[in-house]
Amino acid sequence: MNQHLVRSHAKAVRIRPFRIGSPFMTRKILVTSALPYANGSIHLGHLVEYIQTDIWVRFHKMQADTQCHYVCADDTHGTPIMLRAEKEGITPQQLIDKTHGEHLRDFTGFHVGFDNYYSTNSEENKTLAQGIYRKLRDEAKLIETKTIEQFYDPEKQMFLPDRFIKGECPKCHALDQYGDNCEVCGASYTPTDLINPYSAVSGAKPVRKESEHYFFKLGDEKCRQFLEAWTQAGYLQDEAANKMKEWFAAGLQNWDISRDAPYFGFEIPDAPGKYFYVWLDAPVGYMASFANLATRKGLDFDEYWLDDSATELYHFIGKDILYFHALFWPAMLKFAGYRTPTKIFAHGFLTVDGQKMSKSRGTFITAESYLQQGLNPEWLRYYYAAKLNGSMEDIDLNLGDFVARVNSDLVGKYINIASRTAGFITKRFEGKLSKELPSSELLDELRSADTWHRIGVLYADREYGKAVREIMRLVDAANQYVDEQKPWDLAKVSTYSQAEGKLHQVCSLCINLFRLLTIYLRPILPKLAADVQGFLNLAEDDMRWNQNKALFNGHPINPYQHLMTRVEQKQIDALLAANKQTLETPKPDAHSQARHAEKQTHAVAPPPLPSPAGEVNWISIDDFSKIDLRIAKIVNAEHVEGAEKLLKLTLDIGEEKPRTVFAGIKSAYDPAQLVGRLTVMVANLAPRKMKFGMSEGMVLAASGEGPGLYILSPDSGAQAGMRVK
Ligand code: MSP
Ligand code: ZN
Repeated sequence: MNQHLVRSHAKAVRIRPFRIGSPFMTRKILVTSALPYANGSIHLGHLVEYIQTDIWVRFHKMQADTQCHYVCADDTHGTPIMLRAEKEGITPQQLIDKTHGEHLRDFTGFHVGFDNYYSTNSEENKTLAQGIYRKLRDEAKLIETKTIEQFYDPEKQMFLPDRFIKGECPKCHALDQYGDNCEVCGASYTPTDLINPYSAVSGAKPVRKESEHYFFKLGDEKCRQFLEAWTQAGYLQDEAANKMKEWFAAGLQNWDISRDAPYFGFEIPDAPGKYFYVWLDAPVGYMASFANLATRKGLDFDEYWLDDSATELYHFIGKDILYFHALFWPAMLKFAGYRTPTKIFAHGFLTVDGQKMSKSRGTFITAESYLQQGLNPEWLRYYYAAKLNGSMEDIDLNLGDFVARVNSDLVGKYINIASRTAGFITKRFEGKLSKELPSSELLDELRSADTWHRIGVLYADREYGKAVREIMRLVDAANQYVDEQKPWDLAKVSTYSQAEGKLHQVCSLCINLFRLLTIYLRPILPKLAADVQGFLNLAEDDMRWNQNKALFNGHPINPYQHLMTRVEQKQIDALLAANKQTLETPKPDAHSQARHAEKQTHAVAPPPLPSPAGEVNWISIDDFSKIDLRIAKIVNAEHVEGAEKLLKLTLDIGEEKPRTVFAGIKSAYDPAQLVGRLTVMVANLAPRKMKFGMSEGMVLAASGEGPGLYILSPDSGAQAGMRVK
């Protein structure tokens, strides 16, 4: 058995990873993605999560021995939604109905295949949330009340969440800063620290007002003990479990689960005028969506949710909401008599070209605009897959790389296998594959149980980037086969010759390879795989995972039709232009930015916010490590005839042959003064042909406003050829 499997099996409690266990027993899996807020549009950041989850779900649905359900819903409650509806002059119900349609349209557009997309504002959710609350209160005795003092808007007559109070930063005195942190200097504080606070809703000066709140006693001994054990028992990624430890060290506090009217949400039983805080009923929305599906599909709700459940439950979430899913949620489930999650899978945040998505740069790209501009959703699915792994690291959508990779991998390599061979089958062989296939090691490899298993484990572990690399290696091998066999040359000879038979067999083999590669890519490219299934005239069952025995001989296929077009840079430019907005001036009511307006209630130290990238063009350490910087010894320096700015340098970087580099430093240095010096060069810059010869690298020099140029020198001790990192 694969070592990796052994490891994940030993570590993960109650999990039967991919393909372990009795072949006669069906795995039953329930998967969720986080419920998007109903007051904003789906954007490419959200899609990281929904695409990541959808790939995982589709992979599991391809397994013959697995029943997999994927549910989600809109997260509809809370102050921001209430105020947003008011601003638009509609009821909250009207707002969330409208958003529900838009969200589902966007997800469907990206082929995210929920089995149910529901709403937290549903009867099922109300019943379940109130039921859980009653069990926590009456059986577990984990609810208490306490009077607290909060900011209150006397004009609007409502309590104000931190994010709806603004004022002057106590530290840097920037105006119009939010009640929880300053966007100018980054300080975090509480609203009471603000100078001249005002309500972001009405502009009124907030007053302090007391009110009775309901708390979930997370700090209670049995609860604390349970959570401390649970968070370290293999249900979380290691990095998430470590984060939890830090939060525990900061101390567990009780969790405020009530809000006063007016509030859009569910009323707390036996507490008139008090509502559940949105984060109480939001995760219950997972259960409610499944309950609704279960009723429609005749599934057994209890089998999936009662505490002795033998089924598996997986939550995909972003790292920013780990706190709610790894602390509050398991505690709620546990002490209300339900099962806890099998695994919580947290992912990182999306950056675009190395920076936080930005409305002014046009990189805050909505799902809707992407589709409206006519970009293919499977390009993005493929790109995200190629970038994703099982960790909480951020992922970068590099637009240049996106264009290059989609065009080269998908169109240039994968589709090419079919487009270069299928035409011959149609034109020369009446659309039928040959009865016999040439023997092929590649075909054997693609069909081998080992390959299916290896790539399967990568999908199951969410190591999609590695899976894509493996599959692309096989795609390369298939292309190499086409290049070697040259079907276009074989096709030049007359019919009924030996070459003709070979042409038939070569192309038929390629079509078989293409089918297998399509199955491997199917979780990522469901629409394309369906098109291939049609083109190759296959049944649904022929597209399952591990159909490794099947070969298609003498099988009729349909004429090849174009499967995917190339991405063009001008499409990307148009997309950015469509999403570009003039720089936002702070709005008096910043509802749209208040993503987690009500997240202020932390049971322990607050989770760090996803790193704000500001205006700095951040790169990842991976980007940096692509640059090979070396200490270079200048062994010769000379003027170049006819060149105004250049000096020709001969640089020793410990290689057999010294490098020649033309550097634009003539204005600042006399060649003689350079010979013998050490400096720093970029050793892996692609050689450039210049007027005076080849330049094989670049030396670094500092410059400012004035004319001065200053090359770098290392401290003494550095030697030619050393890496700078
Ligand atoms: N409503 C809550 C979740 C409740 S789950 C019981 C919420 N909604 S959200 O709309 O803000 O985010 C939905 C999911 O998308 C979250 O998992 C969040 O982490 C993820 N993402 C939102 N923006 C993202 C990026 N820029 N990058 C990656 N994922 C992001 O949180
Ligand atoms: Zn400040």
